[in-house]
Amino acid sequence: MKELSTSYGRVFIGSKEECFRTAVFLAEGQRGRHPTAKHFTWALTGGSTPKEWYQWCVAKDAISPGTLAAAHWFVSDERYVRIDSHESNFGTADRLLLKPLGIPSARKHPWSTNVPPAMAAVEFERMGAPWFGRGRTFDVCFLGMGDDGHTASLFPGSPLLKDDGGHFFAAIEVLEKGWRLTITPSGLQAAGLVVVMVLGEGKAGTLHRVLAGEFDPHQIPAQTLKACSQNVVWLVDEAAAAKFLAK
Ligand code: 6PG
Repeated sequence: MKELSTSYGRVFIGSKEECFRTAVFLAEGQRGRHPTAKHFTWALTGGSTPKEWYQWCVAKDAISPGTLAAAHWFVSDERYVRIDSHESNFGTADRLLLKPLGIPSARKHPWSTNVPPAMAAVEFERMGAPWFGRGRTFDVCFLGMGDDGHTASLFPGSPLLKDDGGHFFAAIEVLEKGWRLTITPSGLQAAGLVVVMVLGEGKAGTLHRVLAGEFDPHQIPAQTLKACSQNVVWLVDEAAAAKFLAK
């Protein structure tokens, strides 16, 4: 894959298959960096890209037995819906990846959506803390990027982008979308490795705006990753990279 260094992290550009494979490789590498660590935590995300990646991982048997035996699974952000809803990010990950791979429920850590949203965020942080370690969030945090530049559930104009109060996780009501539970900018800074997968020509304009446009993270949330760029890798297919490469 082609590799570029930007102020938002390293950018790898290649085919979709290469992006999928590298996503696994990066996560496995992160686990390999701390072989004696007690736990390895891996947060997945929502959207259409992960769905395709889950199916690919299962079909290709892509994740190593060692990682499968060690990983604790989370999602970076969640809709405030029941886990059996097709809108649930964890529910989707469970159906398409975790169940097919036979992951036991003791290593699955969904957000709770049966308590008020603000409490769900506090509880997620509290329940996750023993797995993450002090002052840390996930060892590996997967993210996507929406057409409006949002990432996780940090949407343009989100108050969390101005001030998250140092909290790693938060509940936020998003206009016309309802309640979301999400990792915050501080939470992303406390992650070991952030992997952002961006695929398809529909993302080309936004990716160009994120990586080469004016710095305005309040309106272009993915730019918040600049604060932890040393721990960020973007996996971008050729179609999504086209406008950035043509600059
Ligand atoms: C979600 C995600 C969101 C997603 C982007 C990209 O819950 O939907 O957290 O941030 O990653 O919208 O989605 P696609 O993979 O569908 O482009």
